[in-house]
Amino acid sequence: MTAKHQLSYSKPFTLCFCVSLSYSFSFFLYPHYPSVQMGDNMVDQSSPMRVLVTGGTGLVGRAIEHVVKEEGGAREGEEWIFLSSKDANLMDMGETQAVFLKHQPTHVIHLAAMVGGLFKNMRANLDFWRNNIYINDNVLQAAHEVDAVRVVSCLSTCIFPDKTTYPINETMIHNGPPHESNFGYSYAKRMIDIHNRAYHQQRGRCYTAVIPTNVFGPHDNFNIEDGHVLPGLIHKAYIAQKEGSPLVVWGSGTPRRQFIYSLDLARLFLWVLREYPEVDPIILSVGEEEEVSIKEAAEGVVEALGFKGQVTYDRTKADGQFKKTASNAKLLRYCPNFTFTPFKQALKETCDWFVANYDTARK
Ligand SMILES: NC(=O)c1ccc[n+]([C@@H]2O[C@H](COP(=O)([O-])OP(=O)(O)OC[C@H]3O[C@@H](n4cnc5c(N)ncnc54)[C@H](OP(=O)(O)O)[C@@H]3O)[C@@H](O)[C@H]2O)c1
Ligand SMILES: *[C@@H]1O[C@H](CO)[C@@H](O)[C@H](O)[C@H]1NC(C)=O
Ligand SMILES: *[C@@H]1O[C@H](CO)[C@@H](O)[C@H](O)[C@H]1NC(C)=O
Repeated sequence: MTAKHQLSYSKPFTLCFCVSLSYSFSFFLYPHYPSVQMGDNMVDQSSPMRVLVTGGTGLVGRAIEHVVKEEGGAREGEEWIFLSSKDANLMDMGETQAVFLKHQPTHVIHLAAMVGGLFKNMRANLDFWRNNIYINDNVLQAAHEVDAVRVVSCLSTCIFPDKTTYPINETMIHNGPPHESNFGYSYAKRMIDIHNRAYHQQRGRCYTAVIPTNVFGPHDNFNIEDGHVLPGLIHKAYIAQKEGSPLVVWGSGTPRRQFIYSLDLARLFLWVLREYPEVDPIILSVGEEEEVSIKEAAEGVVEALGFKGQVTYDRTKADGQFKKTASNAKLLRYCPNFTFTPFKQALKETCDWFVANYDTARK
């Protein structure tokens, strides 16, 4: 055994509160699932949290910032730090360690990632794989080194096996190859779950991950070539409206997706950070019955923007995965009465934001 190995194995195995909690949790309460209510403080925090949010300037990061600062999401004495790639390039281990040493977070929400829609993914699987692997390895190790007790990372339902039964649940992440269009991103994201399990087994850490479905909201990337389907549609409909041209939807319109509003996701992120006791990931999604086709999503955008022109479908463009219907049963067991913003209302708020911020929006 090398000296390096001896050193790492001789480190004391620290059981975090979370580990003992999750044991007592399943031991005493299973199978009557605990109904943990939003707002209960299950995890006893002796001193206020100092939370470092990586990717704090993106779609999800800005939503968390809004909930923390505008909706009273932060508690007395807490400190929240939102990082941009300008503060540190997290693909670089030295820069990552430096920014973690500077802020000494007790808790981390890890959002930073190379992110993109179907068409950007198909062009750059190698970049998606390498960049995300570096970012995740650096962030989790740097968090461990500064003794952060909790890290919540962000996976995605598009990383699940392509050939699967429905609905998809948390147990299926590693059950088969992901859709070939975004395999670089998917495998890199799946490895976060491996990281979390290994940090738990070998270092006693309680680092976990959430699995959101398609996210949308203010501050999204509205780029038509590289962005996700909904912001792309909003931007295209906005231009078509201005130019009096038809709205051309890419693909057949038949694929189905569950969309979660970024502000709902942000509220759930805070709950996970404070109270979710497991290392295993949890799907954050609206119900299966809320799934909509791309055609229905396009019609929603048309309505929200008051678009009056013609809508056509360009079937020469790829559809991507047909569906990835996910179950939110685990979430509902923990938070039985969490209410999601109705899709139409969230879409209207997002479209209004885009129109009002057209000049500065990412596009
Ligand atoms: N959008 C979705 O539909 C969706 C669905 C499921 C899961 N997710 C996950 O949710 C998380 C957040 O996604 P998002 O949609 O909010 O992404 P986003 O809007 O594209 O934001 C990405 C964030 O990551 C930061 N970042 C990227 N590369 C970085 C680097 N090398 N070093 C440091 N920071 C870097 C960016 O910083 P700058 O802007 O300062 O450069 C930005 O703050 C990601 O992990 C993503 O995989 C997203
Ligand atoms: C997840 O889905 C599989 C396959 O349908 C099923 O056997 C399993 O019971 C589900 N697990 C949970 C926790 O719902
Ligand atoms: C959620 O449920 C709890 C008890 O089950 C109740 O006290 C609380 O008011 C409910 N919250 C909402 C928003 O309905």
